[in-house]
Amino acid sequence: MTTPDELSVTQQQHDQMLRLVTRSFYRELVNYGITAGEVVTVAGHLLDNVVQNGTHTAGATEYYNRLFTTGDIRDAWHDAARLSVGKVSISPVTDGQIPAIVGWMRTPAIRDNFYPPFPEARDALAAYFRTPSRRYFTIFHGGEPVGLIGAENLDQAAEKLEMRKLVGDPRMHGEGIGKHATFLFLYYAFVILKFRKVYIYSLDINVRNINLNGGFGFELEGVFYEDVLIRDAWRDVVRMALTAPVWLELFDRPSGAQRDALLAAGSVV
Ligand SMILES: CC(C)(COP(=O)(O)OP(=O)(O)OC[C@H]1O[C@@H](n2cnc3c(N)ncnc32)[C@H](O)[C@@H]1OP(=O)(O)O)[C@@H](O)C(=O)NCCC(=O)NCCS
Repeated sequence: MTTPDELSVTQQQHDQMLRLVTRSFYRELVNYGITAGEVVTVAGHLLDNVVQNGTHTAGATEYYNRLFTTGDIRDAWHDAARLSVGKVSISPVTDGQIPAIVGWMRTPAIRDNFYPPFPEARDALAAYFRTPSRRYFTIFHGGEPVGLIGAENLDQAAEKLEMRKLVGDPRMHGEGIGKHATFLFLYYAFVILKFRKVYIYSLDINVRNINLNGGFGFELEGVFYEDVLIRDAWRDVVRMALTAPVWLELFDRPSGAQRDALLAAGSVV
């Protein structure tokens, strides 16, 4: 059971996350040419949106939790090194896929989300993926390679790793590929590798990534202000983490069809 102290820590983390998002939003407003006086007007319009759209605030994890279960995963790991859910699969990166990955990383909107950056040259990137402390997968959508997801800083002793991901073509963002691939990668980390902890570093304005990870139960571990320099701009870094028990509690269930079969056989009450 959660104690009042634990609740207040969670609340503090959430408040810190909201402050960070507000800071990034404020910077964006300034980039759009909004003056200090106009910020108050924007705040008023934001409230109008809340009133118009209602105040539905169902937790993101509750929503993802309805969307995904481990029972939906097609696990061909031992035979074919492939994991799939819906139209999305992940499989270890092969040398033949390196040119496409190099191409994806040329887009600043992709490349500038990673620190330290990925190597830009083909051979250097292939060598980078072969390092034992890394494990990278190509993301496929409908059989076509569309992105990359994987582990940095694989720490066998502490059973933890850093997750990185990208969907290569920005026009394909927002279609659900990232969250399906993330679900598959977390299954790899917690069920196949049996690791204990997965963490991510997200750069301040990457609200999409923060939302996506929050939906899978990731919680804020820390904020590092003006921590890295990317193309002459100092960026804040957010670290979020997820542990195996939290993820398994949320997602380790049979699929709807499996549950019906178990119910019919009297194995589930
Ligand atoms: C982060 C990234 C991998 C997400 O992949 P994606 O396929 O675009 O993500 P999805 O379509 O699965 O959306 C995931 C969640 O992002 C959030 N999201 C989507 N569009 C958003 C937007 N315009 N603004 C804020 N959040 C948004 C939502 O919470 C969404 O989940 P929901 O649809 O269930 O509400 C992709 O945007 C990307 O490659 N970005 C560049 C590289 C990067 O930043 N990588 C992360 C560093 S580790």
